[in-house]
Amino acid sequence: MEELKIIVFLMVELLALSMAIFLAANFYFCVRAGGCPYVPTGKKRIGRIIEEADLKEGSFVLELGCGDGYFLRRAAQERKIKGLGVDIHGIALLKGVILARLAKIKNIKFQRGDLFGCDISRAQVIYLFLISGVLEKLAPKLKKECSSGTLIISHGFKLPRFDKYLFKELDHGSWNMSYQRKTYFYRYYAD
Ligand SMILES: C[S@@+](CC[C@H](N)C(=O)[O-])C[C@H]1O[C@@H](n2cnc3c(N)ncnc32)[C@H](O)[C@@H]1O
Repeated sequence: MEELKIIVFLMVELLALSMAIFLAANFYFCVRAGGCPYVPTGKKRIGRIIEEADLKEGSFVLELGCGDGYFLRRAAQERKIKGLGVDIHGIALLKGVILARLAKIKNIKFQRGDLFGCDISRAQVIYLFLISGVLEKLAPKLKKECSSGTLIISHGFKLPRFDKYLFKELDHGSWNMSYQRKTYFYRYYAD
């Protein structure tokens, strides 16, 4: 009986320790990402976004701040796109790499690093789910480096100073997660 108690206590302690490490790591990556936390886009929402985006087979899709890359993995499976996901969050990325391998998805790659250092010029589609502060800083880079005709999808938050390129607002309804209520679709054309 004593032995069983020791094992149970040890397991509870290990669980608490892993949770503490996980929370600390999330906090660390959030600070490094300029205060932008890792919060995934809801899976049902991703289904609707992929449908509305009408992604074409073979098109190159870039996800800046990809987390575990669920959007890219699903788009690769359903639409056969090629993709690259960039994120600073090592744990979420590792999860994405493992799940992509398990699902035998070959056409997407993951890259660890700062999204501001990423080459965005060859992307035909860019997917974003970032907080307003990060979008504010990203907007000038998008205008400077995006190829004309690029489809930019911003989930949750509007892209600052991109109003004239906005052509669709997808409303997911207000039943929960109000910050994920809308997805904004932009078609960027160089002036
Ligand atoms: C709200 S989450 C969205 C995750 C994923 N795109 C999704 O929709 O499920 C934002 C992600 O952007 C990443 N991020 C924010 N700023 C970043 C930066 N400067 N460089 C790289 N990743 C960044 C965060 O680490 C986080 O994983």
